[in-house]
Amino acid sequence: MTARTGEDERGHLGAVGFIGAGNMAAAILANIYDRSYVVASRRSINALRALEDAYGIKTTTDNGEVVRRTDTVFICVKPQSLDELFEELAGIDFSQKLVISILAGKPISTFTSHLDNCTRVVRAMPNLGLLVGKGATAYALSDGCLPADGKLAHTLLNAGAVAMRVEERDIDTITALSGCGPAFLSYFLGAMQAAAIERGLDPAVAKALLFQTVAGTYEYLSRNDAAYDAFIAKVASKGGATQAGLDAGKEAGICGSIEKMMDAAIRRSRELGS
Ligand SMILES: NC(=O)c1ccc[n+]([C@@H]2O[C@H](COP(=O)([O-])OP(=O)(O)OC[C@H]3O[C@@H](n4cnc5c(N)ncnc54)[C@H](OP(=O)(O)O)[C@@H]3O)[C@@H](O)[C@H]2O)c1
Repeated sequence: MTARTGEDERGHLGAVGFIGAGNMAAAILANIYDRSYVVASRRSINALRALEDAYGIKTTTDNGEVVRRTDTVFICVKPQSLDELFEELAGIDFSQKLVISILAGKPISTFTSHLDNCTRVVRAMPNLGLLVGKGATAYALSDGCLPADGKLAHTLLNAGAVAMRVEERDIDTITALSGCGPAFLSYFLGAMQAAAIERGLDPAVAKALLFQTVAGTYEYLSRNDAAYDAFIAKVASKGGATQAGLDAGKEAGICGSIEKMMDAAIRRSRELGS
């Protein structure tokens, strides 16, 4: 028996489960408006108590119970924990369940081939912008998904995020772009801030000016269709400081480094899936 009541103000979302309720699961469920039908699992009882207190959800250490009590099951364990999870879920009928996986690398076929009678699978790649209601999430649907599944998945994944349906073949690249993106951008910004502080700038001044620069740059680019080169040209005059910095960056191979970061993330995503 599921924990849902059927038609309700959420537009019949049904009960929603989260297996592997860690950082990303918490970020997703925190953005779900009505969490009274959410059931989550992980192994740490203390962490489950904390989730109950923070979000008013139901919890259990029994992953099978999450499946049995819900209609839509998010799978949010690390890719390395998946085999163990499949063993635990062996024998449970998934024919009436929609599975939403957020695991990096793992293709839809992993779930249809390891979970009994499982045909309705969404492979999603969220990001931690969800922590501040500004996530970027891409998702692909299995051939077995019903028309309503796409709508339901979009509603859940669009909460606190901009969700976009894509082809599954693009998800490894999206993993590098927007899944890893918050860490890559933080790394770049942190390096800029540290360099300014190391050269004598007051840390608070460095941070305030950098953040406002990020805000202004984002705002300009979003209003001007990501016109990167045009904005660079507005800042960089010939023989000026910006041009000198750009030239040094190019000479040091900064574009090559960024491509290497992207390629390494894409490669690792593919490895996790094999
Ligand atoms: N972090 C990101 O930015 C990001 C972005 C996109 C996608 N993802 C994907 O999201 C998934 C989770 O990442 P995360 O950062 O949220 O990791 P995380 O915080 O480590 O969460 C994973 C959770 O799974 C639980 N777990 C492990 N084995 C389990 C089992 N057998 N049964 C039930 N729960 C189990 C762990 O809790 P216990 O030890 O208490 O069981 C842990 O809290 C990964 O597959 C990752 O590829 C992450």
